[in-house]
Amino acid sequence: MTVTIDNAPIRELIDAEKLQARIAEMGAELTDAYRGLDPVLVCILKGSMPFFAALGQAMTIPVRYDYLAVASYHGGTKSSGVVKFLADLSTDIVGRHVVLVEDIVDTGRTMAYLLENLKTRQPASLEVVTLLDKPSRREVDVPIGYRGFEIPDEFVIGFGLDYAQYYRNLPYIGVLEQIPEVPKPGA
Ligand code: IMP
Repeated sequence: MTVTIDNAPIRELIDAEKLQARIAEMGAELTDAYRGLDPVLVCILKGSMPFFAALGQAMTIPVRYDYLAVASYHGGTKSSGVVKFLADLSTDIVGRHVVLVEDIVDTGRTMAYLLENLKTRQPASLEVVTLLDKPSRREVDVPIGYRGFEIPDEFVIGFGLDYAQYYRNLPYIGVLEQIPEVPKPGA
């Protein structure tokens, strides 16, 4: 049987209400931690976009936004282990309090690479905030300051997370019960 992208069975792992409630808590914690520090929130594109937007709105202190893009997965459910910088920050972070906002820390390779790279730019502080953490898959140790949910070793989609660039728009976190057939570009 062929399972296509629009009829692939999805099991809900974290519903929209739980996500929003946890993000509100995290926003309140960050508000307390960064009061008076004029932090820069960095959105790691593409996956962390919905989390980043909700987290920023849950904070009630002045914050600045910046964006960077990396690629570490190449369409499948396994990491290639290779991290590629696709777009860099648009602002200088020297002497700034930087909060890296990530969708998921899996092997840890992406975050380890980013931390090493951004540290050389001499920020006043560098903190990692992740919505999801899959600690059972960790290959590289990463210091996580704030985590939304710890999840088991399953490939998840939704709330920014994709399978072959699809499903980012789901308002919840789910697990694909079957790997679907993906339309070819231009099809
Ligand atoms: P890491 O470098 O292995 O920690 O992977 C980090 C990146 O891989 C994340 O930013 C995601 O883009 C992607 N990734 C890891 N696990 C998943 C998953 O379960 N679903 C979708 N993307 C994932």
